Amino acid sequence: MYQTKNDLAESIRANAIVLLNSRLADCVDLQTQTKQAHWNVKGLNFIALHKLFDEINESVEDYVDDIAERVVQLGGVAEGTARVVATRSSMPEYVVDSSGHVDALSSALAVFGKRAREAIGWANEIGDLDTADLFTEVSRGIDKWLWFVEAHLQPTCGPDNPSEGRAASSFVGAGNQSTLAASHAMRSNEPAVCT
Ligand SMILES: [Fe+2]
Repeated sequence: MYQTKNDLAESIRANAIVLLNSRLADCVDLQTQTKQAHWNVKGLNFIALHKLFDEINESVEDYVDDIAERVVQLGGVAEGTARVVATRSSMPEYVVDSSGHVDALSSALAVFGKRAREAIGWANEIGDLDTADLFTEVSRGIDKWLWFVEAHLQPTCGPDNPSEGRAASSFVGAGNQSTLAASHAMRSNEPAVCT
């Protein structure tokens, strides 16, 4: 380790460096997976997903940089080459099946979000609250991107009962006509239209 005037104890810094380099490998792996999705996505939502996946890639690149630079701030060496990442990453391989890139990338974001959240606790245990704060910021960002991607897979009219969701959503901000139509549909057992 490099000498530094940083007042954190050397043992704390050494543990934090190991933790940070582990998550650095995962984060670089995730970044390549977002590009894989960006390049290869197809279908009716192509342009929206192509742009969204690139936006996620840019954010993940920022997380990579923040994690790597914290390693160096603590007196360590950031280990982020492709070969190191390939042997150290705990992320599953990016696999696209019939469910497509939205499902594959949301799974990858969920795994990394879990890893980042675990790292918050470990950094706290180590005694490096700044690293815990860094992982808190990263996990919050990943949760947002997971929402952006996963929403493409979720029902538009409600989380539990789609038919109830359709009726309820017609009442919210839909105006009197929609309200009356939905009310009539509920009374007459006709399927309510999601508006
Ligand atoms: Fe591109």
